[in-house]
Order: sequence, then structure tokens, then C-alpha cells
Amino acid sequence: MTQEKVLCDIGFIGLGVMGKNLVLNLADNGYNIAAFDLNQEKVSDTITQDKLENKTNSPRVYGCNSYTELLSQLKAPHLIVLSVPAGEPVDQVCESLIGAGIQPDDIVIDTGNSLWVDTVEREKRYKNQFILFSSAVSGGEVGARFGPALMPSGQPYAWTRIKPIWEAISAKVDPITGKPIERTEPGEVIEHGDPCAAYIGPAGAGHYVKMVHNGIEYADMQIICEAYQVLRDGLGMSCEEIANTFEKWNQGPLDSYLMEISVEVLRHKVDDTPLVDLILDKAGQKGTGLWTAVSSLEVGCPAPTISQAVYARSISSFKATRVAASEFLDGPAKKELNEEETKVFVGRLHDAIYCAKICAYAQGFQLMKLAAKEHNWTLDFSSIAKIWRAGCIIRAVFLQSITEAFTRNEDLENLLLDEFFSKQLNLHQANWRQAIADITLMGIPVGALSSSLSYYDSVRSAVLPANLLQGQRDFFGAHTFERTDKSAGKKYHVEWAAEGRPMIAIK
Ligand code: 6PG
Repeated sequence: MTQEKVLCDIGFIGLGVMGKNLVLNLADNGYNIAAFDLNQEKVSDTITQDKLENKTNSPRVYGCNSYTELLSQLKAPHLIVLSVPAGEPVDQVCESLIGAGIQPDDIVIDTGNSLWVDTVEREKRYKNQFILFSSAVSGGEVGARFGPALMPSGQPYAWTRIKPIWEAISAKVDPITGKPIERTEPGEVIEHGDPCAAYIGPAGAGHYVKMVHNGIEYADMQIICEAYQVLRDGLGMSCEEIANTFEKWNQGPLDSYLMEISVEVLRHKVDDTPLVDLILDKAGQKGTGLWTAVSSLEVGCPAPTISQAVYARSISSFKATRVAASEFLDGPAKKELNEEETKVFVGRLHDAIYCAKICAYAQGFQLMKLAAKEHNWTLDFSSIAKIWRAGCIIRAVFLQSITEAFTRNEDLENLLLDEFFSKQLNLHQANWRQAIADITLMGIPVGALSSSLSYYDSVRSAVLPANLLQGQRDFFGAHTFERTDKSAGKKYHVEWAAEGRPMIAIK
């Protein structure tokens, strides 16, 4: 790797699929990159790919074989982007950079899916050695190459330096239609449109928001997968028929990247067999959905659709148990639907997906709101919805409506209370309900679709059975309760077992 010494704009560490594509994206946008990976083959790969795609006359990516060389190749103060797996590897790289002589005014941007509390800790730990900034990236490998959604957070000073770069490489949205502006060719640069990169807040806030993005992603994927199982096992539709149905749905309010790729997955064949029929039904997970579910419990924000999506992945992994149980645990007898009934059923299923999706997003946004309050972050939800309109995995037409809801009311507590979304739910709830009833009678598990309906019914219930629950708690543990006929805040306890004993008011 003997190349002419040029001081580069950006140092890049970690040249896996995401890293390599981010490097090429940065290069397309006019930045010179000093690139390093512990695996030197990846450095050579990135340089080779850049040579293939580079439409300028000068090299854009410079390979480095050590952290020291990387620092010496950069303009000062150094700006270094990390694309390494979350957890231990991030610290290993940070320590190596310290060993190589990184300076206190140098900036290191962690673009991985780090756990947000780790980011908060890291920012403090490395404070005197360099500025740790974070910017989660969404959009997979294509997003990284042609425009991801970026969720930067950390010191505002660092953001002023990173902003023009991040806005250049991010996905763009047409400000009038709210739709993504396509960029698919190497060398292509989009200079107009709203960038899908906006400052989220202090250290940890960006990774928290990305974590919730992934929680919503889990829910969205699970909802689509449940619909697929209903159409396959309930109606006996072929992969092609399901793909056609999804394709039609993708023209309306369900228009989304995840629906679009589901069509492609369903249509993919190997020797005339749909590949999806050959894929083992055991779901993997890297942890961000689980973190979202755990955080929702900790914050006390109900997110049942997201949690159900995590459970669905867990239960899928018990393949042997499921196969064994399928031999002797009964379900309902199969009922055939005629053509007209099928049409009506499919229409209702569409509405069920739409409503469940609204609930999943409502849960995610409320979770961010409550977490922000707890951690003293000022999150701009309209801006978050805006940057999710393109580039990221959950990009969907739907996010324009969420942007508008938070623009109408920046303090909106829950999307279900917004005028647009409440109208949509009122319009479709009867079909949703009927679909869940029919699917339950078919014996098909739809945890995400049905838990969303329970969530909806809970949110719209002025009175829940927690009065009895409070009675139970007071009965066995003297945990006290408030009364609806007395002043708020006053606590009561009853000696339940002893008849005729007085109710004791507790201060
Ligand atoms: C994204 C994705 C990305 C990744 C997730 C999914 O926004 O680009 O969410 O971050 O694909 O890690 O991970 P699992 O499904 O494996 O948990």
C-alpha cells in the first residue's frame, strides 16, 4: 500500500459491508478518506472497489496499515469514523487510538448500534483524550452506500464540524411530497431535498433513538410476517399470490420499504421453488429490539407490539419444541372461505396491519418521549419522523403523517391522540377487530396484530380493571389504594379479612 502522501479529510476504521459503503459514499461526496481495518484484506477490497467506482482522476481512498499511520494521514484536528460492532470492539479501537496519539480536540464518531448507556459512559471516559460523538446509521448496506438515515448525538461543537458531511451523505427527501429522492449510481450526488440527518441531542440520545427505530423495525417486520402466515396457512395462498397482495397494499398507506422487500423475498426462487419456503423459520436477533422492550419496561411505557415482536423471534427459535407440540396440541378445524369471503377477509387484514402499525409507532414515539423526560433530553419528534422518511429500514409513506402530527402538536403525548391517526383508527377498528377474531378462530398466532388491538382498547378505556388489582394488592400486602370518591392522592387501606373493621386512611 505505498501511495502518495495526501492529508485526508476523514479517517475511517472498520471496513465491513457498512464501513466500505460509507467510505464510498463519503468519497462520492468529495471527501478523501484514510481507511483502516485490522483485516488488511478489507482495506485492499475498499481501495479496489473505489478504483472501480471512482469517476474522478485522483484517488479518494488511502489505505493505512496501523492506527498510527491513520492519524498521520489526516488533517488536524482529526475526524475519525468508526464502523465496528457494538460493545467491546468500540473500546478496543478507542484505546488503540489513544495509544496511537489521538488528541483531545480530535473527534471520533461511533456509527454502530451501541447500547445508549455505553455511549454515555464512553463520552465521559474518553473526555480528556478525544471527543466521542455518536451517530447511529440506518439503511443497511445500500443505505450506507447511497444515503442512510443518520442519528447524530453528542457535543454540539462536534456536530457543527460533522453536519455538512452528514447532510451530504445522508438520504434526501423531496420536501413537497415527503418521498425519498432516489440515488442508485456510484458517483451520483444529490444536493437538493431535506437531508435525513438531524442532531438528536446529547451523548446517548442518538443511540436511544436508533434503538427505538429498531424496536419499531422489529414490530413492523413481525406484523408483515404475521400477515404472510395468515395468507399462507389461513387462506392457502401461494408465495406469488401473497407477493401480489403485498404489492397492491404497497400502493396505499402501507407503502414502505419493508413491504417492498417482502415482495421481493417472496418472489425469489431457487429451481422454481420459492426460496422463502426453504428458509428455516428460526429468527436471529442482535439485541436492539430486546433493548427497546427492556427499556419500555424500565421507563414504564407500554410497548406490547414491540415486545411481542421480540417474543415472536424467541418462540421461533424453539423449533424442535414447536415441531413436537404440533403433533399433539390441537387447534381449530380448518374452514374454507369462498371467493367473496376471501376478498372481504383480505381487506380486513389490510386494515388490521395498518392499525397495528399505527400502534407500534405510537408506542415507539411515546417511549422516546418518556425516556427523554427521564434523561433530560429535548427530542424533536417531528424532526425524528422526518429523518426516518428515507434511508432507514422503517422508511414509509406513513412517516410523513407522523411528521405532520408532531408538527401540529410538538407535545403530542401519544400518536393515537392525534386527529389524523385517531380518525384512521376509528375508520378501521371494526375491520381490525373482525380480522383478529377470524384469525383467532383459524388458530394462527398473531401476537403483534392482536396485542396492538389490546393496546388500542386499553388506551381508549376510561376505566380499566386496575381497581380490582389495587384491591388484591391491598388485601395481601397492605399496599393501599386511592378512592375515586375521595380527594386524589389520599391513600386507604382495609383490613379485608376482618368483617366490620373500619377502612383506614393512610397519609
Ligand atoms: C438498520 C438496521 C440495522 C440492523 C439491525 C437488525 O437500521 O439499518 O436496523 O441496524 O439490520 O441490527 O438487527 P437484528 O434483526 O439482527 O436484531
